[in-house]
Amino acid sequence: MIDEQPIVLTDEFFQDPHATYERLRERGPVHHVRFPHGVIGWLVTDYALARQVLSEPTISKNLRAVADDNRLVGGATIADPGNSQHMLNADPPHHTRMRKLVDRAFTPAAVAALAPRITAIADELLDTIAPGETVDLLRQYAFPLPITVICELLGVPAADRTDFQRWSGELVTAQSHAAKADANTQLAKYFDDLIAERRSDGGADLLSGLIRATEAGDRLSPDELRSNALLLLIAGHETTVNLIASCVPALPDDARVRQSIATDSLATKAFREEVLRYHSPVHITTFRYTTAPITLADLRIEAGELIMVSLGASNRDRGRFADPDTFHPDRIDNHHIAFGYGAHFCLGAPLARLETDIALSRLLTRFPALTLAIDSARLRWRPSVVIRGLTELPVHCR
Ligand code: HEM
Repeated sequence: MIDEQPIVLTDEFFQDPHATYERLRERGPVHHVRFPHGVIGWLVTDYALARQVLSEPTISKNLRAVADDNRLVGGATIADPGNSQHMLNADPPHHTRMRKLVDRAFTPAAVAALAPRITAIADELLDTIAPGETVDLLRQYAFPLPITVICELLGVPAADRTDFQRWSGELVTAQSHAAKADANTQLAKYFDDLIAERRSDGGADLLSGLIRATEAGDRLSPDELRSNALLLLIAGHETTVNLIASCVPALPDDARVRQSIATDSLATKAFREEVLRYHSPVHITTFRYTTAPITLADLRIEAGELIMVSLGASNRDRGRFADPDTFHPDRIDNHHIAFGYGAHFCLGAPLARLETDIALSRLLTRFPALTLAIDSARLRWRPSVVIRGLTELPVHCR
């Protein structure tokens, strides 16, 4: 009989999930856990095992097969498979086919070409803040920056942003299946309308490109097209907003160190990578499941079991990182797995990194003596197991 550990989603857990992970880790590197809504599976909290699981070819991402098997999800349904036929829910060769269509828009070179536009967007947002003003930087800067970038890239009209901000927020944090299903339906309808519009007028944006690729070679079905567009939109902003916002409370007080984070690309990189490791904006990977028995740390897991990796816990693994619970802005040898690992390694990592570097550099150039407007212990974190992000970020801009 395997001991099952419930993950209790109290406010205490959301404010400090690492206390729970620490307790789990004391018992071993792999845990049989029960999440709310009856989801039962295995959770990996160890860095080396995390990489093993994320690169293991017999561990599948094909969620549709899981959704057909109630035993795996404890009777809970997985919200709306119609919106979920995207690359993150696929194995090779389907995964490779879908990823290739989108990949070229996100290579480091393609992304670097976006720098002037990202800088302009950052500056426009900062122009709305007067020196000396106290603002919620999350709402006025960290959120609108990545959502504007991904919308422009995809070709999603600016006027529609508040709607899907609400729907995608529901998808990430809603506690009930009904609320998630409703948000999914709204998003599906929104994208179907937008795709129909883009199909008739064409364009240079990524969505029009995907539509043309679909029409030319029948390489994406209509569900795959909608699902991948949705994935890009949601993954493109629900994560980066949290990386940008999490950088701010982590900023050192020392003006010279701040100055180097703003202007010296090596210092910016070290700082941003440490925020990625320390806060891990995607805290737990999406579901995977075993298609064959696997042994992890002397533990045999049978075929057909759900398995998840805690990136947040793995990035604080003592066996891999020295002094893992301390934030070191200039940490070297920082091979964290905040963007995942293996075939599903984050497609948008170069974009997320560039956006964050520009956001930080512009912010610190404009407001070098910026401070939090509340005690850092009073900052609140979103009630999500998957996403680690602040609910608001009050700052004095000076
Ligand atoms: C996949 C993290 C930003 C698009 C992933 C995964 C992680 C991740 C951990 C793998 C999930 C898994 O294996 O279950 C992050 C973080 C970001 C970020 C921490 C920002 C700080 C972005 C951006 C985009 C994006 C800006 C798009 C514009 C994607 C896509 C996948 C993915 C499409 C699926 C890749 C595949 O299945 O091959 N991301 N992401 N992400 N991310 Fe990101």
